[in-house]
Amino acid sequence: MFSNLPEPPADPILGMAQLFAADTSPEKVDLGIGVYHDAEGLAGVLSSVKAAERWLLENQQSKKYYSSSGNAEFNDRTRAMLLGPDSAEFQRARTIQTPGGTGALKLAADYIWSLAPQARVFIPTPTWANHNAIFPRAGLELVRYPYYDPTSGQVLFDRMVEALGDLRAGDILLLHGCCHNPTGADLTLDQWREVAAIANRHGALPLIDMAYMGFGEGLEEDAAAVRLLASLVPEVMIASSNSKNFALYRERVGALTIIAADEGQAIRAHAHAVPQARSNWSMPPDHGAAVVAHILSTPELKTQWEGELAEMRDRVTGIRRALAEQLSSNSGRDFSFIAHQRGMFTQLDIGSDAVKVLRSRHHVHITGSGRMNVAGLTGGNVPMVARAISQALAA
Ligand SMILES: Cc1ncc(COP(=O)(O)O)c(C=O)c1O
Repeated sequence: MFSNLPEPPADPILGMAQLFAADTSPEKVDLGIGVYHDAEGLAGVLSSVKAAERWLLENQQSKKYYSSSGNAEFNDRTRAMLLGPDSAEFQRARTIQTPGGTGALKLAADYIWSLAPQARVFIPTPTWANHNAIFPRAGLELVRYPYYDPTSGQVLFDRMVEALGDLRAGDILLLHGCCHNPTGADLTLDQWREVAAIANRHGALPLIDMAYMGFGEGLEEDAAAVRLLASLVPEVMIASSNSKNFALYRERVGALTIIAADEGQAIRAHAHAVPQARSNWSMPPDHGAAVVAHILSTPELKTQWEGELAEMRDRVTGIRRALAEQLSSNSGRDFSFIAHQRGMFTQLDIGSDAVKVLRSRHHVHITGSGRMNVAGLTGGNVPMVARAISQALAA
C-alpha cells in the first residue's frame, strides 16, 4: 500500500509555516496562517479562558462520556449566541458540538450526502481552501460562484446573483456569515435579503460558515446577517467555530446548528445528524467546549471575554486603517477597501512572483494566493510591510 506513493501535495497554508520557520531574518513577519496576534506579535491564551480553565480544574467532577452531540450547555449557548435566545429561529434549531468549525463542515457534508447525495454545493470564488476538499470528499459535487474582485476589493454581487440562478431544488448554498475568508468582503444586509429570496425561489438550503463571529463589528452586529437569513429561509445550517473568537484554536471547538421549519422538524433533523458524528469521531473533545460553556454561563466571565474580543477586533480595525492609508500613499493606488473590509483577512491583487519577492527580499510571508492575515501585523511593522508590498507590486 505504501511502497509506491508519490510526493504528497503541499498544503499551501501549512507549507507557509515551514517557510516562515526557515526564514532566519529577525525582521520576518507572518501574515499567512489565520491566527490573531496581539500588538507584541503573540497569540496568547485569553484571561477569561484561563479563569474558566482554573474553574474547571477545581470543579469538574467527571470526564465520563457525553453523547455524540457533545456538551449540552455549550450547544444551547452556541444556538443562543448565533440566533438570539428569544428568537423564533432559536426555537426551531438544534446544535451538535463538533471538533472545530472544520468538524462542523465535515459533519454537514456527510449529513447532506446521507440525505441528498445529488445535492450540489455552491461555494464562492475565492473561499477558505478547505471548502474545496471537504465536500467532494463526502461525495458531493462543487459548483463555484464568482464573489470578489481583488482589484477593487469589492464583492461581485451582480455576477454572484447571476451564477446563483443555476441553483436547483435541494442544492446547498455555502455563504460566509461574516468576515469572509480570504477576502474580508461581506455582503450588505440588503444583499443577504436578496440571497435569501434566491434560495427560496430555487429551493436551495443555505449553509453558513461562521468562523469569525465577533471579529467584524461586534457579536450582535456580526450575527445580524445569519439571523436575517434564518428568519427568511425555512431550512438553514450554520457551521460555527470558536477557534478565533475564544482563541481556542487547537482545542477544537465548533458546532453544527440545524434550523428547520419548526421545532419538531429540528429535533428530528438533529437526531438524524447525530449518527454521522458517531461514525466520524464518536464524541467531540470536551475541554474547549466546557471552557466556552462556562464563560458564556458566568456573567462576569462573559463580560470579561466580550472585552477581550472587543480588544482583538479593535486592534484589527486599527491595523486595517493604518495599512490602507500607508499602502495607498506608498503605491499611489487606492487601497481604502482594506479599511472597509472586516475580520482578519484581505486578498491582494498580487501575482505569485510578487508573493515570492515579498518573502525572499522583505521577509513578509503571505499565502501564494495573495491572502494576507492583517491580524498578524503589529503597529510597529505596518510601515515596513506597506513599503514592501508597494515595492513588490511595482516590481
Ligand atoms: C472560513 C473558515 N471556516 C472554517 C474554519 C475552520 O475553523 P476551525 O479551526 O475551528 O476548524 C476556518 C479556519 O480558519 C475558516 O477560516
